[in-house]
Amino acid sequence: MEDKDSRWFDVEFVPDDYIFSQEDRPQNIDVPVCDSIPVIDLAKSTAAHGGHIQPVEAILMASKEFGFFQVINHGVPEKITTDAMNVLKEFFDLPSKEAIEFVPHTKGWVYTSTDNTKVGVHLWRENLKHLCHPLEECVRQWPNKPARYQEVIAAYILEIQKLSSRILEMICEGLGLEPGYFKDTSEVQLLSSNFYPPCPDPSLTLGILAHQDPSLVTLVYQGNSPGLQVLKDGHWINVGAVPNAFVVNIGNQLEIISNGKFRSMDHRVVTSPHKTRISIATFVNPSLDCIVEPAKVLVNGSEPSRYQARQYKEYVHRNKAFGDHTVTIQNAMISES
Ligand code: OGA
Ligand code: NI
Repeated sequence: MEDKDSRWFDVEFVPDDYIFSQEDRPQNIDVPVCDSIPVIDLAKSTAAHGGHIQPVEAILMASKEFGFFQVINHGVPEKITTDAMNVLKEFFDLPSKEAIEFVPHTKGWVYTSTDNTKVGVHLWRENLKHLCHPLEECVRQWPNKPARYQEVIAAYILEIQKLSSRILEMICEGLGLEPGYFKDTSEVQLLSSNFYPPCPDPSLTLGILAHQDPSLVTLVYQGNSPGLQVLKDGHWINVGAVPNAFVVNIGNQLEIISNGKFRSMDHRVVTSPHKTRISIATFVNPSLDCIVEPAKVLVNGSEPSRYQARQYKEYVHRNKAFGDHTVTIQNAMISES
């Protein structure tokens, strides 16, 4: 008989509906941890190419070449990230959340432990998504269990808002855009937290299928657990777990605004045989009505516009940007304004 406390991942073998096709599955998960995804110290210059480069230049180079970088000395207090990771662990450990599964919360949060992918196979994860902007209004609609969830995650989001604004300002400078270019069109709109339990055979499963982020930029906190991989020149490389770092990932909207100077790269998450991994992804997005197009100063005779202008709303809808819950989330975003 089944143990009443047993959860979907307490299995000896991977169930069939979690096994990806040969083409999608990771196969060899022992790819080397990549030490070339740049780790950028925001407080000082970084050693590179035999010399030293300033953070702005390091961000520019990393965004062009990898579409990914990590930041350290970013100013977010460790207590804020530790508290956020702990409260999320408590959330994912709650037995009662099973009861709310699949009920898309009309107030703007969705939780699932069995999300289906477009290829019809379940991801090896549980996921919680909710809106974050405007913060004061959203907070009250977040999970209220654990009791300190709202307070702890609100503090986290405020820090991410500060850090992402700072990074976007550095990107402005690097790309030669006017200061404040992103100021009114970039908000930490969505939090997506993932709980990836240990998996009996990580070569068959995925925590997240290969995808690109529909955001402007995404900031991911992954604690001390690796699992994120980036497709670079046809090979999957691991993004190492750097203590207390944030992973920054160039989303599709910034690729468009940069007129293709920056690249939004394919990435995915592999599972681990032993360790539970929690990640907090925060999506910094334009507002839904914002028209996203290549920045005027980056378009000229020798560099024609490579992307069509379009509303972010339309992009989200067309690409099912938030997965199965796109419509729920989009509706919540619309009713919010
Ligand atoms: C995402 C994502 C990475 C991770 O949520 O889009 O890529 O490490 N997450 O969970
Ligand atoms: Ni992603």
